[in-house]
Amino acid sequence: SPAPLIDRFARHITYLRMSVTDRCDLRCAYCMPERMEFLPRAEVLTLEELHKLALAFIARGVRKLRLTGGEPLVRRDMIELVRAIGRELGHGLDELTMTTNGTRLAEFADDLAAAGVRRINVSLDTRDRQGFARLARRDCLPQVLEGIAAAKAAGLKVKINTVALKGVNEAEIPDLIAWAHAEGHELTLIEVMPLGEVEGDRFDHYLPLDAVRRDLESRWTLTPSDARSGGPARYVDIAETGGRLGLITPLTGNFCEGCNRVRVTATGQLFMCLGGEGKVDLRAALRSDDADSALANAFARAMGEKPERHGFVIDRPGAAPALARHMSMTGG
Ligand code: GTP
Ligand code: 5AD
Ligand code: SF4
Repeated sequence: SPAPLIDRFARHITYLRMSVTDRCDLRCAYCMPERMEFLPRAEVLTLEELHKLALAFIARGVRKLRLTGGEPLVRRDMIELVRAIGRELGHGLDELTMTTNGTRLAEFADDLAAAGVRRINVSLDTRDRQGFARLARRDCLPQVLEGIAAAKAAGLKVKINTVALKGVNEAEIPDLIAWAHAEGHELTLIEVMPLGEVEGDRFDHYLPLDAVRRDLESRWTLTPSDARSGGPARYVDIAETGGRLGLITPLTGNFCEGCNRVRVTATGQLFMCLGGEGKVDLRAALRSDDADSALANAFARAMGEKPERHGFVIDRPGAAPALARHMSMTGG
């Protein structure tokens, strides 16, 4: 069988984040500009190609596969891909999951559960309708809440992802956590990352999570937990809410040492690091005459190029983003 994916720092790649489209039906202000330019559809891999790639990764030891975007559920026939990859569960693949903005989750929650998805991450930065419409620039909070409720009803474990933003949702964070925990969901806070141009300056809203944590400690009892999800979050348990809080701290607490993941874009570009430019063209390999050996070469090259860590900083106003690429390209 093909060689496992191990990088120069002996990190084993067992987690693939696969972006199935760069398109999104929301326009969160920290993520992309209102007039975002999307990839031409002709560039994007077919579902068959995405499926083949998934199998190639699973054959090389990937055990956790997350479908992302853009918004994965805006891609037509997405559920077909979920079903196809779902057949690998128990045959090398341990977990198939998705990160979604929730707008179309009500429609797909049952299908996802039936395809073998057990856990889903839903982005939600505020539960205030006007605040949501301002931040996401689309008035979609009711749909998202309906989607989250549908996921729960379908038996999916829901994790809420909340980007912590100074002066935007900062004051609402304890409320969001209390709500999520009361609903039986985990919630993970994320530091905003300097990826791609947006209209505003991310510096203005950057909120370091060490400050948020101190604030939460002044109202609740936080106990660090050893729990790990196989992702970048570190967890604390909150006694008063009876729930678990995740913290993703690319800026204040680098977690690259334990990195176990790579990402593929919707056009089949393999990015070894969210914070790097280095990529390998898997689409070309997939479409070449001897796809098997082309893929093997591409994977070997990629492992030699995975950087040790990212170098994200948000430390002064007016700085250019660390990378021109938006999060919606690589799916975070
Ligand atoms: P779990 O399986 O629930 O742990 O999910 P996850 O945290 O791996 O995935 P999710 O899609 O929910 O990602 C949450 C946030 O973590 C997103 O904003 C991602 O961009 C960010 N993230 C995931 N992996 C990395 C990484 O390798 N580096 C950095 N800097 N951020 C990451
Ligand atoms: N920094 C941090 N998080 C971001 N997301 C999108 N863009 C950024 C950014 N620049 C978040 C989304 C979603 C997750 C997958 O990534 O809100 O929760
Ligand atoms: Fe891994 Fe790069 Fe993410 Fe760091 S930034 S955890 S090295 S993918």
